[in-house]
Amino acid sequence: DVPDLLDRFGRTARDLRVSITEKCSLRCTYCMPEQGLPPIPRADVLTAAEIVRLVVLAVTELGVREVRFTGGEPLMRRDLEQIVGGCRDRLPTLPLTMTSNAVGLRHRAAGLAAAGLSRVNISLDTIDPAGFAALTRRDRLPDALAGIRAARRAGLTPIKVNAVLMPDTVAGASDLLDWCLGEGCELRFIEEMPLDADRAWTRTSMVTAADLLDVLGTRFALTPVGRPDPASPAEFWRIDDGPATVGVIASVTRSFCADCDRTRLTADGRVRSCLFSDHEVDLRGALRSGASDGELARLWRDAMWQKWAGHGIDAAGFAPPERSMGAIGG
Ligand code: GTP
Ligand code: 5AD
Ligand code: SF4
Repeated sequence: DVPDLLDRFGRTARDLRVSITEKCSLRCTYCMPEQGLPPIPRADVLTAAEIVRLVVLAVTELGVREVRFTGGEPLMRRDLEQIVGGCRDRLPTLPLTMTSNAVGLRHRAAGLAAAGLSRVNISLDTIDPAGFAALTRRDRLPDALAGIRAARRAGLTPIKVNAVLMPDTVAGASDLLDWCLGEGCELRFIEEMPLDADRAWTRTSMVTAADLLDVLGTRFALTPVGRPDPASPAEFWRIDDGPATVGVIASVTRSFCADCDRTRLTADGRVRSCLFSDHEVDLRGALRSGASDGELARLWRDAMWQKWAGHGIDAAGFAPPERSMGAIGG
């Protein structure tokens, strides 16, 4: 039996999130600076083979049960299919997913499914073209919608759509929900966390889950159904007494840190125990100087043992971490 990735608060990390690049095709204001993040020197980015080795190790030596590729935007890597395929060859039953903005997915969904990707989560905040262009600083809504449809045709389902709640787009929340219901996507709204590169987030200007429910309530009858999966942060509401639901990830106003089951790997090969903690442990150096799987596993376990209780966004003296979301990978 595999020893778990435990922390001092009794939590076990089973969900690995791997950021494979900090590059992105969009510039969402809550995540990236206008000019993009400064590029990581090429030599410092994990190679496909290195990523596969660390993923396999996390599953076989550390008890990880689900792996998600994030970024930046994972599609910015041409070798994403190779990374997925390499993991799939070694781990035939592992749930292997990706969180993507879907821009460019139209041309790659079928190949990713063939390589062994299980399904996708898509970040899409509005279906209003002007609102999309303003929020993402790129006029690419049609590309994103085409990508989502290609993912569905390729069987990368169920597709979950993530929408970060922002003051300028929340009025369109019901339109987005209508669109997702029509496309058979599961929609989850997310409270914005202080992880924007521009440091513009404030607790008083952020849109809360409660604000969202007021907006949706004018068009839909919503019945709370709670949080069915303790390992997933979303709470759900039933829509108009039908079979469909809408989710809310209230990371700020209803923090789920006590149930956190995540461990993260950055594109430059560091273990990160929490979105908000700058305490990171470098695996890349050890890996490149010939460390064994056992040694890498021990470094990873030590990193998670240092994990703190939670983000403390509402605590006095809270300061956002050095890395913005684009450099951690939601
Ligand atoms: P599923 O396993 O498919 O349900 O996905 P997920 O919700 O774990 O992953 P996804 O990448 O779709 O993330 C959804 C959102 O949840 C992200 O946009 C983040 O805003 C938020 N989120 C993800 N992981 C964490 C976390 O560890 N802590 C906090 N506070 N928020 C997180
Ligand atoms: N707060 C909350 N969620 C965010 N994401 C990006 N930045 C933030 C933020 N500041 C989301 C993206 C994507 C997921 C990986 O993280 O929209 O769905
Ligand atoms: Fe886990 Fe940190 Fe996210 Fe809280 S903020 S849920 S502890 S990763």
